[in-house]
Amino acid sequence: MSTAASSAAPPHWHLVGAGHIGTLAAAYVRAAGHGVTVVRPHTAGPIKTTLAFADGRPLQRLTLPTVTPTSIEQPISHLLVACKTPYTRAALAPLPLAATVTAVRLQNGIGSLDGLLPSGARLIDAVTTSAVKGTRAHHDVVAENTTWFGDDGAAPDWFDGLRAHWPNLEWSASIRRRQWQKLVANAAINPLTALHDVPNGALIEDAALHARMRDLVAEADSVLGALDDSWPGDSLAAVAAIARATAGNTSSMRADVQRDAPTEIEAINGWLLRAAAPLGLALPAHRAVFEALRAR
Ligand SMILES: NC(=O)c1ccc[n+]([C@@H]2O[C@H](COP(=O)([O-])OP(=O)(O)OC[C@H]3O[C@@H](n4cnc5c(N)ncnc54)[C@H](OP(=O)(O)O)[C@@H]3O)[C@@H](O)[C@H]2O)c1
Repeated sequence: MSTAASSAAPPHWHLVGAGHIGTLAAAYVRAAGHGVTVVRPHTAGPIKTTLAFADGRPLQRLTLPTVTPTSIEQPISHLLVACKTPYTRAALAPLPLAATVTAVRLQNGIGSLDGLLPSGARLIDAVTTSAVKGTRAHHDVVAENTTWFGDDGAAPDWFDGLRAHWPNLEWSASIRRRQWQKLVANAAINPLTALHDVPNGALIEDAALHARMRDLVAEADSVLGALDDSWPGDSLAAVAAIARATAGNTSSMRADVQRDAPTEIEAINGWLLRAAAPLGLALPAHRAVFEALRAR
């Protein structure tokens, strides 16, 4: 679903987190004629980076202006959030956000912007099945799969124009369902591959790990089913299919542990544990991986 074309000027985005996904988003919004400025805690001039695409189109060079939070003069009207979830609070705290800011959250997990936006803000959640890896200076866009933007409303007036330049971008009126589907996969695959330092396919090949994946999925289904009785449950086949399709991949949480960086466990398994508590559900499998990863 999308709105009719509008004559409104294209938005100018402030981007928090010019990593893999943030840089790809910056390339797309700029191609659509939107402005983009990266917000960094300590700026060191423009970011110069390259993107390589799996479909073989030419290498794209991108130079993005940067600004520090304290040097932003006008309130931010459009915000792209693409830092890893543990950094979100610190990154947003010093930002001068307009009372009616539109924020697009390009992060895994759920709830990392809770309490961080003004009451008049519009929060658009994004779920992407695209994949980007590489270094700060070079991003390999491994897959440009579907990305859904959505909230409870109709698509904003800039959405159609952006869609023409962002491959496989869709507006979703059921973004929560898509977030939950991705959350279940992340909550099962990420912590196990991180704790055991294995690629995703090990959760299919190793019987003991497969059993633990099954327990994590069943517990996640129990919470989501209790929150919404239209949740279909039975997510194991879908999660196993993702583990199989990405068998040789290193999950983002495994990569974070390997480089001794904070993981996104709070926004993934932590969200499920927080949702389960008032429902009286204990989630022992999620509690175990959550505690084990936090102990690292
Ligand atoms: N990569 C993917 O394929 C993919 C796919 C789906 C979803 N996601 C999700 O997208 C989000 C971003 O992932 P990513 O892979 O793009 O991570 P990333 O490459 O590590 O990028 C995160 C960026 O955030 C920056 N940052 C950290 N603290 C900041 C702060 N206080 N202010 C401004 N910037 C800050 C980092 O800067 P430094 O480089 O200076 O540390 C880095 O550039 C995550 O939630 C991830 O789960 C990623």
